[in-house]
Amino acid sequence: ALGPPPSSTAGGSAVAGAGFFDYARGKAVGMAPGARIAVYKACGEEGCASSDILAAFDEAIADNVDVLSVSLGAVGTAPNFYSDNTAVGAFRAVSKGIVVSASAGNSGPGDSTACNIAPWFLTVGASTLNRQFPGDVVLGNGETFTGTTLYAGEPLGANKIPLVYGGDVGSKVCEEGKLNATKVAGKIVLCESGVNARAAKPLAVKLAGGAGAILASTKSFGEQSITSPHVHPATAVSFVDAEKIKKYIRTQTSPSATIVFRGTVVGSTPPSPRMASFSSRGPNFRAPEIFKPDVTAPGVDILAAWTGANSPTELDSDIRRVKYNIISGTSMSCPHVSGIAALLRQARPEWSPAAIKSALMTTAYNVDSSGGVIGDMSTSDASTPFARGAGHIHPNSAVDPGLVYDASTEDYINFLCALGYTAKQVAVFGSSISCSKRAGSVGDHNYPAFSVVFTSNKVAAVTQRRVVRNVGSDTAAAYTAKVTAPDGVRVTVSPETLRFSSTEKTQEYVVTFAQRTTGSVTEKYTFGSIEWSDGEHSVTSPIAITWPTSKVAEM
Ligand SMILES: *[C@@H]1O[C@H](CO)[C@@H](O)[C@H](O)[C@H]1NC(C)=O
Repeated sequence: ALGPPPSSTAGGSAVAGAGFFDYARGKAVGMAPGARIAVYKACGEEGCASSDILAAFDEAIADNVDVLSVSLGAVGTAPNFYSDNTAVGAFRAVSKGIVVSASAGNSGPGDSTACNIAPWFLTVGASTLNRQFPGDVVLGNGETFTGTTLYAGEPLGANKIPLVYGGDVGSKVCEEGKLNATKVAGKIVLCESGVNARAAKPLAVKLAGGAGAILASTKSFGEQSITSPHVHPATAVSFVDAEKIKKYIRTQTSPSATIVFRGTVVGSTPPSPRMASFSSRGPNFRAPEIFKPDVTAPGVDILAAWTGANSPTELDSDIRRVKYNIISGTSMSCPHVSGIAALLRQARPEWSPAAIKSALMTTAYNVDSSGGVIGDMSTSDASTPFARGAGHIHPNSAVDPGLVYDASTEDYINFLCALGYTAKQVAVFGSSISCSKRAGSVGDHNYPAFSVVFTSNKVAAVTQRRVVRNVGSDTAAAYTAKVTAPDGVRVTVSPETLRFSSTEKTQEYVVTFAQRTTGSVTEKYTFGSIEWSDGEHSVTSPIAITWPTSKVAEM
């Protein structure tokens, strides 16, 4: 079912008047509309078999593709790289010069939920854009709660109609067959999340003779609720708003409500982008010194092509067939980055997959449309780099990043050795080398970001090395470092100035992260950045520090 949305997002040609019914209607175009698309089937109705994933990678490699867009990944805790076939297939592809852009996953907002976390992936989180599909719940007392909906049928009237809570009429999650028709007929039902699919809840209400549904989001999602293309009047509200509506139902003798469908609203309120609550987070579960996710891109309520083989809700009873649908997930943000990577590949054919990733990461932006740090819908606060990665991609800057952090297949093998992999485990990646001859630390992998783990208060300092290559037009450029130190560490960069010439295109530097001996930190993770600038380019890498529990002050 995932085929058409990612492929049209990455490489769809321009089409006038695209939309889901009247929602998001207008000219739509993919990121790289001139690109040719090859599709390899790795998933079916029973999921994505490891053997099929590997076969798909092999076919794509044999076809000499430029970019692989991988909107799939392991579910649950990220597996070891040698037993993760998406990581193994991606390793082979990257070794052949193919960029592999992959979803971070939809398991947020908890820590270390990101999948596709090997350093050779370009790992993408999901954020909002400046477009909303509001559906307001208006209660009998006039209180209004703005939800989100893609309901496209006959609207409800302005008159308030009786409102009930699913838990009082047979099913708190509004399961089909469990709602009592006598108690639901003609009413709006408040449904909790979980058990059945979101779009199945209003359908269950419809079958019981109800007039509409209000879908509650989950607590961990904070202010976010998920938009669905409902077949019956419905809107999804945040957990907190649903609790208020529930309280209203409990305290009124004749609770009532209506839902007002407001269509498509584009604007600066709320600010965008904001990180989706579902977007999977760092730190990296398998290699904490490799910063993840890498970047963020649009992944909430994305209009894209849809298959004629399935309804927009993916429910059998939904007989609608549409050319375009609007869905959310890192499966939608990943192909945005894949398309941009294809444009970069064309503009800079000599760049490696690691150089393309570096360009996207070091030029990403971290500020939203209101000038604040990109927010996080799960907390209603500023997001951290473990949610947004190095930031939201900024394609026009990525084509001229100034410096790149490159990495070769050999660097990735060194990384596997630094993890302590056995010869047998390294052999899974097609390498016959013996790690015993190789030293090095994971933290020295030439990543365009820094992740430092202090395992105890006694570790005085951690040092990491990096090499940058000048890819700017000025071969004699000089770059100076500017550090924004995370709480709890002193950061020293040596040397502080990097001078390039026509014969010295690469320069090495060393960063030392020294624990401050006094005081404690208030968070388990603290963040900062290193920015190299020649006055024209700004090459910025996030820094993430993970602290031992003993260093974090009781709050
Ligand atoms: C449904 O509700 C009505 C009215 O309260 C009640 O009489 C009936 O027993 C309920 N049906 C079931 C199956 O619970």
